[in-house]
Order: sequence, then structure tokens, then C-alpha cells
Amino acid sequence: MTPDGRAIEVRGVSLTYAGRPPVGALEHVDLAVARGEFAALLGPSGCGKSTLLRAVAGLVRPTAGEAHAKSVAYMPQRDLLLPWRRVLGNAIFAAGLAGVPPAEAKRRAEALLPRFGLDGFERAWPAQLSGGMRQRLALLRTFLAPRETLLLDEPFGALDAITRHQMQRWLQDVLEVEPRTVLLVTHDIEEALILADTVYVMSARPGRIVARVPVPLARPRDAATVTSPEFTALKAQLLARLDADATSGMAEI
Ligand SMILES: Nc1ncnc2c1ncn2[C@@H]1O[C@H](COP(=O)(O)OP(=O)(O)OP(=O)(O)O)[C@@H](O)[C@H]1O
Ligand SMILES: [Mg+2]
Repeated sequence: MTPDGRAIEVRGVSLTYAGRPPVGALEHVDLAVARGEFAALLGPSGCGKSTLLRAVAGLVRPTAGEAHAKSVAYMPQRDLLLPWRRVLGNAIFAAGLAGVPPAEAKRRAEALLPRFGLDGFERAWPAQLSGGMRQRLALLRTFLAPRETLLLDEPFGALDAITRHQMQRWLQDVLEVEPRTVLLVTHDIEEALILADTVYVMSARPGRIVARVPVPLARPRDAATVTSPEFTALKAQLLARLDADATSGMAEI
């Protein structure tokens, strides 16, 4: 639990990777995610999004400031499946580490496999899956870990547009039934607006939060939402924010 009961609390976090030269990845980042909230981190490639997620997961230590989170399941940008375990074995791996009895984890995994487009592949090896299937399996594994907060680093990044939309829809449905707190990294503006309650826009490296944009669109958000004037206006607002930062960054060069 964070000091004030929020699911995620990041205060004044700066992070510089040591090396020659040192790389400043984050600069004075503040962010707070309430329990049950879905927050998206949106920013250009290399701005420090994955670094911020790793800091929240406790995998890297900030150079300054503090990052706290309630019990988290972290899905890294690269899927890190275990090649020597079959699909089902990979799916229940994180749950097993967290102490969920294997039979129970297996039952839950089997029930969810069709939703993840992995039905019939229980006994396949990760090497036999497509890139999209691997990513869906990694997401299933994260979801099966009994954690309140999900940290998802571009979970749909390697999926084709059609599968991506299906998965966005699916994630909304699942969260309706099984609410979690989510912090999701993306560089896709539409994805952020379809999924999030709040979008944090990051600047180019070193990443700072340059805007916090609440998304007051009704749920579930579907094809009709994407074409609504409200959606279009929010998209323009986020695009302008990202562009303004990119332009000011270029002016400094
Ligand atoms: N372990 C590391 N050691 C040194 N530098 C690193 C390390 N990890 C990331 N960096 C650097 O920190 C900066 C931010 O990287 P990070 O992976 O957080 O960006 P990102 O926003 O997730 O990018 P992308 O959208 O491409 O995934 C980059 O310049 C990167 O080269
Ligand atoms: Mg990244």
C-alpha cells in the first residue's frame, strides 16, 4: 500500500542511467493512480516510459524521488516467455510464484484461453506461436497473477490492427468483471483514449509529465466512440501536446 492509500504514487522521480555518457531517462516525474483507475502513459520512443514502469515495479531505483505501488504484476515490453514450458505452463507461472495452487491456476487459465485466442494451443511451445500469440500469452500470465495492479508495457505493441482492437475491447470487458488498477504504456494515442480514465503525456527524453488529461468518455468504448466528436477533440489535444514537445525539443538542438 502506498503511504496515502493510492494504488500507485510517484513523487519527484528522476532517474539517470550510469555510463559514459550517463543517460538521463526521467526528470521529476509526479503521478498518482487511484485504486481501480486505468492510467495510460503516452510518449515518444525512448522518452523513459519503460523506465518509469520499472521504477514503479521496484526493478530500478530512482536517482531521486520515490515510487510506490500496491501489489503489482508487471508485463515487460519483451515477452520473456519461458521456452521450456508449454503455453499452459507459461500462463500459470506467475500465479504459481504468487502461491496460487496449480490446479486452481490451471482452471482459471483454461477458462481464459479462448478469450486470448489461444484455445487448442495449451500444449504448444512458445517457439510454435506467432508474435501476437506470444504477446497474448504474456498478458494472460500477467492477468492470472493475483495482483491488484497491472503494469503493462505496450501489451498490444506487436499485434496487427484487428487483433489489437479486439484485445482493447477484451481488456475493457475483463476489467468490468474483474476490476484492477492499470498503468499502461503506449505510444498509440487512440489506444490510450479507448482504454484510459487518465492519460499522462510524457516529453522526449529525459521524460517529464507534460500533461495529465482526464478522459470522460462513456464505457464501453467501441467503434462508435472513436468516431465521436469528443474522441476526436481529445485526440487533437493529445497530438498537439506531443507535437508541441517534439517541436520545442528540436528547437533546442
Ligand atoms: N538499462 C539501461 N541502461 C542504460 N540506459 C538505458 C537502460 N534502459 C533504458 N536506457 C535508456 O533510457 C532511455 C529511456 O529508455 P526507455 O526504455 O525507458 O524508453 P521508452 O519510452 O520505453 O522507449 P520505447 O517507446 O522505444 O519502448 C533511452 O535513451 C534508453 O537508451
Ligand atoms: Mg519502452
